Amino acid sequence: MMQRERWLKNGYADEPIAPDTDLKSAIETWKKEKNAVILAHYYQTGDIQDIADFVGDSLALAQWAARTTADIIVLCGVHFMGETVKILCPDKKVLVPDLNAGCSLADSCPADRFAEFVEAHPDHTVISYVNTTAAVKAVTDVVVTSTNARQIVDSFPLEEKIIFGPDRNLGNYINSITGRKMLLWDGACHVHEQFSVEKILALKQQYPAAVVLAHPECKSTVLALADVVGSTSALLNYAVKSDQQQFIVATESGILHEMQKRCPDKEFIPAPPNDSTCACNECSFMRLNTMEKLYNCLKYEFPDIEVDPQIAEKAVRPIHRMLEISEELGL
Ligand code: 13P
Ligand code: SF4
Repeated sequence: MMQRERWLKNGYADEPIAPDTDLKSAIETWKKEKNAVILAHYYQTGDIQDIADFVGDSLALAQWAARTTADIIVLCGVHFMGETVKILCPDKKVLVPDLNAGCSLADSCPADRFAEFVEAHPDHTVISYVNTTAAVKAVTDVVVTSTNARQIVDSFPLEEKIIFGPDRNLGNYINSITGRKMLLWDGACHVHEQFSVEKILALKQQYPAAVVLAHPECKSTVLALADVVGSTSALLNYAVKSDQQQFIVATESGILHEMQKRCPDKEFIPAPPNDSTCACNECSFMRLNTMEKLYNCLKYEFPDIEVDPQIAEKAVRPIHRMLEISEELGL
């Protein structure tokens, strides 16, 4: 099999790396030589977060990408994040270390079925979470992330008929705090859905002073136990500013790296999943990216994200709308 054919089949460049390679310094060298930047989501492993030029949540990654003058953007996160960056920066090369890094939430919303749902409700405004494919964004009026979802929903009159997809937990949460009755798509994230209420309750007994931080992709029974509900960056900012010392964190455990780095004297306890035999509070998709794959991805400039130009032309509008509203709101 030809080399490129094999890479395409694997979803990443699987070239062997000499065992004595200093991955960090080689990555720094490729970056300078190629005018590349590395953006990483908080759910990446610590080594990838540490070498990134910027680490952030879904909104901040999109905002950062929209501003950069780099020729190459390496998005260390999952596929929909790479797509969002490519749609915003069509003339740049956008790389992800492993194309197999998908998202169970995006997968729970197939574009053809979502388009039928939208067509069946022509009088509804369509608000989609950023965790969607480009094809879903193409039939969307405005994209949101967990950082701006509530404010963007609130920017519409209370009587506006709204379809919100694909995350039923985030949608239910916004309905509950705004008194709206948005029509929800029935999707979910496999990581955030599996936090155990019983185990969080047990942790609260063990650490009675701990603050429970939860991402709105968690089930309502978990959110009911939380002291703070917010996006990854909102939870991080809360922990940094808080004068409390202990935090139980119900979101993907990669965020603990930045929390611990910014608050070395505080204690962060990852909320456990239902199944104690697995590391299910780690996103298996996010963790497909490794330093080795990042090195090869920069070296061979593969795999790069492509988005059908006709879909991109439609999908860019709701993403720009999100960025504009977020700027107006100072987010
Ligand atoms: P945020 O970082 O925007 O809160 O998103 C969480 C998430 O699940 C990303 O995949
Ligand atoms: Fe998707 Fe969930 Fe992984 Fe985020 S944590 S990328 S929503 S599967």
